[in-house]
Amino acid sequence: MSRRSVLASTGILGGSLLGAAACSDAPSLAFHGVHQAGITTPILPFLQIAGFDVVARDRGGLIELLQTWTQVAVELTSRPDAALSLTFGFGPALFTEGRFGLADRRPTALTELPSFPGEQLDPAAGGGDLCVQICAQHPTTAHGAVRALVNAGRSSAKLRWRQIGSRDAGDRADPTGLFGFRDGTANLDLASEQEQADHLWVSDGPAWLHGGTYLVVRRIRLLLDTWDRTDLATQETIIGRHRDSNDRLDGVPAAHVRLASPEANGGAKLLRRSYSYDAGADPNGLMDAGLIFICFQRDPQRQFVPIQQRLASSDPLNGFSQHLASGVFACPAGVERGSWIGASLLS
Ligand code: HEM
Repeated sequence: MSRRSVLASTGILGGSLLGAAACSDAPSLAFHGVHQAGITTPILPFLQIAGFDVVARDRGGLIELLQTWTQVAVELTSRPDAALSLTFGFGPALFTEGRFGLADRRPTALTELPSFPGEQLDPAAGGGDLCVQICAQHPTTAHGAVRALVNAGRSSAKLRWRQIGSRDAGDRADPTGLFGFRDGTANLDLASEQEQADHLWVSDGPAWLHGGTYLVVRRIRLLLDTWDRTDLATQETIIGRHRDSNDRLDGVPAAHVRLASPEANGGAKLLRRSYSYDAGADPNGLMDAGLIFICFQRDPQRQFVPIQQRLASSDPLNGFSQHLASGVFACPAGVERGSWIGASLLS
């Protein structure tokens, strides 16, 4: 597909983008790089994350789709005013025997997550063959990017689910979440190469994923009505931090931050990049809102899974939340100029 035909087929990309695409100045969040953007790059305030089922019949169709999406991603991020990142991932289903000849390339860590006590997952609202996380400075940019991918991939990939989130703009790595507490404070230290090597980037298993990572996404409804009728001292005991100072609370081993901490989980750490969602009202007149929990790690079976197992069985936040959708995806390393996302896996 030529560049022009990709743009034409995406429909919503206007003439100004065609002009801008010729501009070679890399924007601040370049699509090309050693690692994909949207993992260690600054967290932009608006999120769209979507899962797709591949309907292309064969491997050639899958390759064409990924090449087209790469072209779209390059175009979108080449705009001089572009402030967005696109992060692509491959779900376990893509590697199913007899589909695209990838069964022997599936990394051991890429299996569907086990079920956890208490979750109420809608399978149609999670999972899928492919995932794209888009983080943008403006909501319309995030929306337009997903829409461009949907349009460009129409004959080969069917949109399966989509989640829309936001977080406070600004430099803060830990903005205030819907429960009124800061979220993202005790996160992986990205200033440390060692932390990244130990907890974030894949360096074992099949070579195609080296320099990549795994994305886990969970849609977690927060029961705001119940939370807002709980007094502050109790809320602080549940989270394990003072709400206003954000200092850790001593002497509450059962608090969320204690149960989720590396100390309680054999040193396991996650890179969390979560957003809030706000989806109106439910039939009972309650606000429908919550957390799009997103984390990255080098091995979900040794990081997200054991941490979530501990939380699912004893986190006091369970009385105030419901896990509704879930997905796990292997995100390959970054794309070199002239190459395409998935080339290491498929060529
Ligand atoms: C019900 C939804 C959740 C809410 C409202 C929530 C909220 C919070 C808050 C307020 C903090 C303290 C500030 C911070 O360090 O970021 C925190 C910490 C943390 N959360 Fe959550 N969280 C939720 C779910 C999860 C899940 C599903 C996981 C992972 C499976 C997780 C993992 C962590 C970790 C690793 C920390 C840092 C712990 C430490 O201090 O070392 N959280 N969370």
